[in-house]
Amino acid sequence: MPTTLEVKTPRLVTALPGPNAKRVLEQDTKFMSPSYTRDYPLVAKRGHGAIVEDVDGNSFLDFAAGIAVCSTGHCHPKVVAAIQKQAAELIHMSGTDFYYESMPQLAERLSKTMPGAESKKVFFTNSGTEAIEGAIKLARYATKRDKMVAFYGCFHGRSMGALSLTASKSTQRKGFGALLSGVEHIPYPYAYRCAHGHTAETCGAEILEQLEGQIFKRLFDPEEVAGIIIEPIQGEGGYVPAPKFFLQELQRICRQHGIMFMVDEVQSGMGRTGKWWASEHAGIEPDILCSAKGIASGMPLGAIIARESVMRWGPGSHGTTFGGNPVCLAAALATMDLIESEYKENARRMGDYLFGRLADWTKNFKIVGDVRGRGLMIGIEIVRDQRTKEKAADLRNAIVDLAFHKGLLVLGAGENTIRLSPPLLIDQEQADFAVRTLEDCLREAEKKI
Ligand SMILES: Cc1ncc(COP(=O)(O)O)c(C=O)c1O
Repeated sequence: MPTTLEVKTPRLVTALPGPNAKRVLEQDTKFMSPSYTRDYPLVAKRGHGAIVEDVDGNSFLDFAAGIAVCSTGHCHPKVVAAIQKQAAELIHMSGTDFYYESMPQLAERLSKTMPGAESKKVFFTNSGTEAIEGAIKLARYATKRDKMVAFYGCFHGRSMGALSLTASKSTQRKGFGALLSGVEHIPYPYAYRCAHGHTAETCGAEILEQLEGQIFKRLFDPEEVAGIIIEPIQGEGGYVPAPKFFLQELQRICRQHGIMFMVDEVQSGMGRTGKWWASEHAGIEPDILCSAKGIASGMPLGAIIARESVMRWGPGSHGTTFGGNPVCLAAALATMDLIESEYKENARRMGDYLFGRLADWTKNFKIVGDVRGRGLMIGIEIVRDQRTKEKAADLRNAIVDLAFHKGLLVLGAGENTIRLSPPLLIDQEQADFAVRTLEDCLREAEKKI
């Protein structure tokens, strides 16, 4: 009989949470910071592929991937081997002060994936928020300007600079006082709730008018703006894609005024949408691109990738002790091999398959308002009433919890959206299991209205 990690779909052997999980939860409540946001009591012990086993021997199908991080699945043997080999050879050296081979090697590979003919340069960080933090500094340094424009609903991280751009949930800012000055937010082109009744292709024209007609005329002269930053597909905000024309127009406006066009691909990048970067689907060429999450299959790594003519800050202007640690870089190189050879294409194929399976959900379930996204970045927005589009956060939360009790791990995004962000290696059997399970959950949730 296969072990629980060798199976492709879940197997539950105790009530949830099981007895061992309960012990961990008790200790966690006592000693861990209460700022963490756990949706349900999964206490993970081991993982393999898209399967996670908990401390009581229950196995789950993981459609959350540690918040879109485990791109190559849990503990891919090639990633594990790369980490083990590197750990036995050199764990740390600090790329700020010394050289090692894998740094320019990974930088070259990443540079070649970023759209645009100009050569690129890379700075490595430990996380997404650090990549954004560095990108803000780089935009200011490169332009000698200090103002920034960002979008409502976008999430860029929680360190003070990144938090100044984040406008996702007020709890993320509440109690922390003043943030960076000179940051203005404008609406994100959210087609399902488009204030002007546009479609997924045309939503956002009025937002661009607001940027040029209001922000640039009444608040900041565009010549004072260092950067405009956007997630090409909003992640934490609810898996909302921006229309292609909108991103292209934003790029045009940036170029016209010498503003850095900055994209946050921390969640949408590294093959998740079927291409290296979601930006590629829109045909845009950002000046600065931030990556993290899926870049190293779970090892802490982020990257700022910028046009060579932009990343010209001098020695000492930015640095890091741990960023681009050799073990993380080894994991990233192995991750890139796998994404390039198999998983980018699999994300596209399985994404198409899943969108096909979900195509009728807005007809079949009266609480499904919208299904959207690209590749394996799929958002399902839950509403109380399709006509009024009243957000149903309670039903979304109930569905996420029900799914857990049926062995499927999913997370929420935004106020009322379920996000599907599985590892990029899922197969059709696993996609079918997830669809059937969510359909059961939706049917159960509908009984609550
Ligand atoms: C788009 C985006 N940017 C930045 C971040 C921050 O990344 P980290 O949590 O690694 O600091 C996140 C995290 O969810 C994200 O989704």
